[in-house]
Amino acid sequence: MASIKLERLVKNYGSFRAIKGIDLSIEDGAFVTFVGPSGCGKSTLLRMVAGLEEISGGTLKIDDEVVNELEPRDRDIAMVFQDYALYPHMSVAENIGFGLKMRNMDASEIDQRVKEAADILQIAPLLHRKPGQLSGGQRQRVAMGRAIVRRPKVYLFDEPLSNLDAKLRVDMRTQIKRLHQLLRTTTIYVTHDQVEAMTLADHIVILKDGMIMQQGQPVSVYEKPISRFVGEFIGSPKMNIISATVADADAETVLENDSFSLKVADCGKVPGETIEVGIRPEHLIPCNKEEALITARVDVLEPLGSDTHAICLVGKQELTARLDPSLALKPGDILYLRAEPEKIHFFDPESGARLEIDLPQQIAA
Ligand SMILES: Nc1ncnc2c1ncn2[C@@H]1O[C@H](COP(=O)(O)OP(=O)(O)OP(=O)(O)O)[C@@H](O)[C@H]1O
Ligand SMILES: [Mg+2]
Repeated sequence: MASIKLERLVKNYGSFRAIKGIDLSIEDGAFVTFVGPSGCGKSTLLRMVAGLEEISGGTLKIDDEVVNELEPRDRDIAMVFQDYALYPHMSVAENIGFGLKMRNMDASEIDQRVKEAADILQIAPLLHRKPGQLSGGQRQRVAMGRAIVRRPKVYLFDEPLSNLDAKLRVDMRTQIKRLHQLLRTTTIYVTHDQVEAMTLADHIVILKDGMIMQQGQPVSVYEKPISRFVGEFIGSPKMNIISATVADADAETVLENDSFSLKVADCGKVPGETIEVGIRPEHLIPCNKEEALITARVDVLEPLGSDTHAICLVGKQELTARLDPSLALKPGDILYLRAEPEKIHFFDPESGARLEIDLPQQIAA
C-alpha cells in the first residue's frame, strides 16, 4: 500500500494547459474518485500518476518519494482501463496470469495467485474459457483479475465500467467496493458518473477545466457544495436552482419571484439584485399553502415505483421534486413546497460561489 501526493501538478499539451496546478494528498489505503465533465482532465491526471504521461510541472510523490521521472513499470501500480483488451486466443487463467509470466514468476506461484483472484472476483468456474465465451461483465472481471494478481501498491481505474449495461455496472460497483474493503489497496478511480463517484469513494475530487473545484468526503460535498457547479454536479436528479430577486420588505430581506418567497437575514445584496437559491429534489416537502416557500405547477410526472419525480414550473423556471409515490398528483395541479433551512443553499449568480446566508427560524413566506 502507498500514500500519494500531488503538489502543484501541471500538464501542458503544447500551448494547452490540461492540468492547472493540482494539490492533492491521498492517504495510504484510501479510495479516491476523480469525477468531472468530459475533458476536465481526469484521465490525464490518472495517467500522470501511472507514469504514462510526462509531468510538465510540480511534484508527484509516492510514499514521500518523488517519482516524476520513474518509469511506469517501476512505480508498482496496476491500471485498469475502459477498453481492456484481453488476448482472445488465451484462456481466462492465462490472461490473468500473463503479466506475472512476463515477470518470470514461478508457474505454481502464478497458478496460486490466479486462483485467489478468481475466487475474489467469483470467476473460478470460468478460468478455462476463452474471452469470446464470456459476458461483458465477466470479461471486465478478468481485466480486474490481471490487476489484482500483481498485488501492486496502487490501483488506478479509468472508467472501467462504462462499457457495461446499467445492472452490471451496479453489480460491479459493489464488487469493486468489496474488493477494496478486503485488500485495502490505495485506489484512484476515474468516472464521469457522479453516483459511482459518490458510492465508491472515501474521498471525492471534483474536477473542472484541469482544476479541483472541491474535494472531501462524499457526504460533506453533497451537503455543502462550495459552488453552484458542484451542487448541480453531485446529486441525482440534480439540484434545483431558482433565481430570486432581493426585495426590501419592512427591513427584512425577502428573496422572491412570481412563485417563490423566502425571508433571509442580511444577504449582503441590495434590493433589485438577484441570488440563486439551490434546493435538492429530495429536500422539497409538500405542505399547505401557509407554510409554502414555493408554489409550483406540476408539469410532468415520472413514477419510478420507489418515488415519483414531479417536474414542475415555478413561474417560468423548472424544478424537480422527489415525492412519495402515494401522493395523488396529476399534471396541472398546484403543489405547495417547503424545505428545511439547512437544506437551502445560496449561490452568487455571477461567480457561482456559495453564499453563507442565515435564515430566520420561521422560513415560511
Ligand atoms: N495527447 C493530447 N494532446 C493534446 N490535448 C490532449 C491530449 N490528451 C488530452 N488532451 C486534452 O486535455 C484535456 C483533458 O483530457 P482528458 O482525457 O484528461 O479528459 P477526461 O476528463 O478524461 O475526459 P473524458 O471524461 O471525456 O474521458 C482535454 O481538453 C483533451 O482534449
Ligand atoms: Mg477520460
